[in-house]
Amino acid sequence: MPPEQKPRVLSGIQPSADSFHFGNYFGALRQWPPMQDDFDTFYMLADMHAITVEYDPAALRERTYVSAAQLIAAGVDPERSALFVQSHVPEHAQLAWVLNGITGMGEAGRMTQFKDKSSKNGADSVSVGLFTYPILMAADVLLYRADQVPVGEDQRQHLELTRDLAQRFNHRFGETFLVPEAFIVKETAKIYDLQDPTAKMSKSASSPNGLIELLDDPKKAAKKIRSAVTDSGDEVRFDEKEKAGVSNLLTIYSALTGRTVADIEREYVGQQYGAFKVALSELVADFVGPFGERTRALLDDRAELDRILKAGAEQARSVASQTLDLVYDRSGFVRQAL
Ligand code: TYM
Repeated sequence: MPPEQKPRVLSGIQPSADSFHFGNYFGALRQWPPMQDDFDTFYMLADMHAITVEYDPAALRERTYVSAAQLIAAGVDPERSALFVQSHVPEHAQLAWVLNGITGMGEAGRMTQFKDKSSKNGADSVSVGLFTYPILMAADVLLYRADQVPVGEDQRQHLELTRDLAQRFNHRFGETFLVPEAFIVKETAKIYDLQDPTAKMSKSASSPNGLIELLDDPKKAAKKIRSAVTDSGDEVRFDEKEKAGVSNLLTIYSALTGRTVADIEREYVGQQYGAFKVALSELVADFVGPFGERTRALLDDRAELDRILKAGAEQARSVASQTLDLVYDRSGFVRQAL
């Protein structure tokens, strides 16, 4: 089937850390490569989202390259996907502005991610950009008329807003956008912190030992698994309420091996946490080791990464500019004379 007839996928990730972590990977990124078989895929580094909190420009630039390399190391194939940087496609900011005009203050204020961050840091220290962040995210998705958006659970609400905005615009100004679906894999939709298994694994974690980074040194990653917080019992059993830590480790074990949780539980009947953790720590080391090597090899050739991102942005713009043209027209903006 020629690519233009396939349904579309768009997803994005912020280049806001030195490495992606297991939450990013199992919650979202791992779904991206297989989708290349059946969809016309657009994968984006959300650098404009990354400037909505305090940041260092030099670090952002470096992290954008490191992020691109990690996506390719994870299986995003630039020959089959448009891999691009958000700021290379100005239509994102342009559509976000139009969508700002149809978003209510109240509905934007209900976004739990914003509420969490502003309550943690105090409302005066958060930026307007952080508040309107989900509207830029809606623009990211709607520009490509994406059918499916593979993300983790924490982005579900933002995609609901995206759907509402698409429907509202279509209703007021005529059919323009496709109403997208979130693609969330239930089992891995939320990976938890290894040190605090009631909190999600996150780059802003209080302790670096709570997260496995894809670019971690394998020995260090293995150690983090061995010292992950578990309950005082000794039964390797999935029970999110009573055994949050062990359940999280079982989820990771299952995701790394493709085995069911029940099958893994059976293997460890009568054994204590130690054996289970050692086995998982080896699996994790075997995963991050080669992953880091692939990423570092890709980073050795920055010119090639630049070429890939340029081609990706051109492909993205060819779609995004058509949608924006239609939006501007529907919005009543006068067309510039040719
Ligand atoms: P970001 O950069 O915070 O995270 C990237 C992806 O990782 C998922 N994720 C998790 N999944 C499971 N467990 C966790 N602990 C965990 N932590 C993170 C996120 O759900 C996400 O899918 N706003 C987005 C980036 C974005 C985007 C978009 C996504 C910008 N534009 C358009 C989809 C479509 C974000 O900040 O993700």
